[in-house]
Amino acid sequence: MTTDFTLTDLTPFMGAEVHGVDLGAAMPDATFGAIKRALAERSVLLFRNQDMTPESQIAFSARFGELEKHVLQNFCLDGHPEIFVVSNIIEDGKHIGAFGGSKEFHSDLAYIPDPSKGSVFRCLECPEGEGETEFVSMFAALDALPEEKRDWLSQQSAVFDYVWDYSRRQTQRPPLSEEQIRNTPPVTHPCVRSHPETGRKTLFVSPIWIRNFVGMSEEDSQPILKELTDFATGPDFAYRHSWRAGDVLVWDNRSTLHKACPFDEENSRRLMHRTTITGEQTIR
Ligand code: OGA
Ligand code: MN
Repeated sequence: MTTDFTLTDLTPFMGAEVHGVDLGAAMPDATFGAIKRALAERSVLLFRNQDMTPESQIAFSARFGELEKHVLQNFCLDGHPEIFVVSNIIEDGKHIGAFGGSKEFHSDLAYIPDPSKGSVFRCLECPEGEGETEFVSMFAALDALPEEKRDWLSQQSAVFDYVWDYSRRQTQRPPLSEEQIRNTPPVTHPCVRSHPETGRKTLFVSPIWIRNFVGMSEEDSQPILKELTDFATGPDFAYRHSWRAGDVLVWDNRSTLHKACPFDEENSRRLMHRTTITGEQTIR
């Protein structure tokens, strides 16, 4: 099929830059369909120099599916509960967005029953030479695992426990409310899942949120999980994105992990808007 854009790979195994698309403008269904297929295959898509508003970001993102309203509603944009603000900026003595977090590899909302399909992340401000976002391909990591580990993992499920994880690490954020705790009970997902659009198998684990493998104690699970995630998050499967204002990245949460890289949070400003596409059941 002919489409009106071109792609250049960001790495041999993951990621493509999309040239010739204006995400702020109306887009034919055929173009959107081709973007969606490219995302399923390449896992991360980059669009540079985009001129978008909260409204056009929401409109584009909503073509992939319904949008999430994050558990941390205190960090969403006023009047736009679909936009989760990620920022270190303080205005009137208050943080305007989620700060100091996401420095460990994860897949967005993996801790809910139907984890997010993907996220759209728009850079409004970023310091130069720092504050990158790093991705790893869980397709590539799974393919590279020794066969016996892959076979073992294909039989396993893991328990994702947001509340347990929050309490062990989020010292800078206020404690969760009773309601937030009630809304995020532990959930179970297969460690290897099939991509719903392509059928390709991908690893679905995360160094945060997973408390244990099903049928195994936390104590026995954690060392195995650490060895696995150390392997999967290694440089062989990674792409690190250096942000410019106007960049939009769309990532597939089913086949990647990502994390924020450090920057001078005291002295520089970083402002990003994320929309998060609701997910579907994880299938083996
Ligand atoms: C996120 C996230 C990474 C970053 O918003 O989901 O993980 O680089 N962000 O800020
Ligand atoms: Mn994230």
